[in-house]
Amino acid sequence: MTSQTLREARKYEEASEKRISGEERPAFHLAPRTGWMNDPNGFSWYDGKYHLFYQYNPYDSQWGPMHWGHAVSSDLLHWEYLPAALAPDEAWDRDGCFSGSAVTLPDGRQLLMYTGVVRERQANGGCSEVQTQCLAVGDGVDYVKYEKNPVLDEKDIPQGSSRYDFRDPKMWQEADGTYRCAVGNRAADGSGQILLFSSPDGFDWHYVKVLAANRDRFGKMWECPDFFPLDGKWVLITSPQDMLPSGFEYHNGNGTLCLIGDYDRETEEFTEETDQSIDYGIDFYAPQTILTPDGRRVMIGWMQNWDTCSYRRKHDEAWFGQMSLPRELSIRNGRLYQTPIRELEQMRANPVSHTDVTVSGTVRLEGVRGRRIDMELTLRPAEGCDLYRKFSVRFAQNESCYTSLGFRPAESVLKVDRKFSGSRRAIIHQRRSQVNHRGGELKLRVILDRFSAEVFVNDGEQVMSVVLYTEQGADGISFIADGTVSMDVTKYDLV
Ligand code: FRU
Repeated sequence: MTSQTLREARKYEEASEKRISGEERPAFHLAPRTGWMNDPNGFSWYDGKYHLFYQYNPYDSQWGPMHWGHAVSSDLLHWEYLPAALAPDEAWDRDGCFSGSAVTLPDGRQLLMYTGVVRERQANGGCSEVQTQCLAVGDGVDYVKYEKNPVLDEKDIPQGSSRYDFRDPKMWQEADGTYRCAVGNRAADGSGQILLFSSPDGFDWHYVKVLAANRDRFGKMWECPDFFPLDGKWVLITSPQDMLPSGFEYHNGNGTLCLIGDYDRETEEFTEETDQSIDYGIDFYAPQTILTPDGRRVMIGWMQNWDTCSYRRKHDEAWFGQMSLPRELSIRNGRLYQTPIRELEQMRANPVSHTDVTVSGTVRLEGVRGRRIDMELTLRPAEGCDLYRKFSVRFAQNESCYTSLGFRPAESVLKVDRKFSGSRRAIIHQRRSQVNHRGGELKLRVILDRFSAEVFVNDGEQVMSVVLYTEQGADGISFIADGTVSMDVTKYDLV
């Protein structure tokens, strides 16, 4: 019973993906089959495979009528596209199937919960989007929308809360077989809140309580929540809109927030203890997590930021938007740590190592180049020398372009800078993060995949993600020091 709208989308994506050659896409980061991608949705393990759905406009490389694109993988690095799973084709979602999540039902079917959007005319002639939570049930390829949709609407939210900002349900199953979901919403004071709902069977949903309230601390509206246990703590992640910067921790605009605390399962009360950013680079938003069959908590985000989409936003691009690397999460020293999913190590080939390289001025190293690489760097002051003033590594480099990481130990600041990456737009191209180091000793792991760089600092204490559209021939790497640095480098190609 596939609708005409979904049939057309499926036909269109199948025909138009042929316009995109393998080299024009990232090699191991998921990009849309065609057109536009934003948030990861329905990240799940189902029927022996990882499933990742995504916010999807197949018809244009700009945001538009939201469908759910769909891909599967056995290692979260090699993806196979499946036909689009949802299209905006019902009375409750005719203006968009927004973000949501997936669980497996006891009878083996997969249950999707998503936000249905319907535009409503306002008295002033303008339009507002009413948002409700809706279900679809399927077999891993085809999904049938629930005839009783929506299952959560304005009747289910606290008085005064917004029916226009009520979206992005993240479901999970409790040990007793019942289900919960966390949904982003805006409270009467205009500030974000995460609402908790519960269901005995995944279909019949009831309001429980406000799981967390922003009270204007971190941006305004909170989008795309996720809530899960990790290393003896509970973690609430969400993506706030309209953030204000706070030192090096948060930046202006759309950001990411991780609250670590305790959760009392009896009273369903979450007690926040600490807050931090999730990613300290430019492009990362709306992450969602999964518990893998072997018990790892793995997170994928949209490797993009709404405010910087114009870096590459032309109607003639065949695709726009990509997912981040899947990252294994842990809590160490009270902070969220992220490391690239360990399956990535199986893609490593052609190792090149240089140890105790003295860098003073500019150095290039035999065999160290590439745009699909995994590179580990360890820096320290050279023996007998004063603390260096600055260290930089430039990559994706040719005569005119490069992107760089610059570290100033006296300030403990690491900066990623893609100003010279070939962008012709006046948007943010640099971001700085405070990092820990011991007297100038710092560890960096840089992963490049054609159109992106993800930098893992000190074994995952911080991550900085940026997209870059520098031409692929720009594959040079150079190291520069003001002062004298002793450096170990190991670089692998990722194949
Ligand atoms: C976050 C978001 C979600 C919404 C979706 C729409 O990036 O704004 O809140 O569901 O994108 O595409």
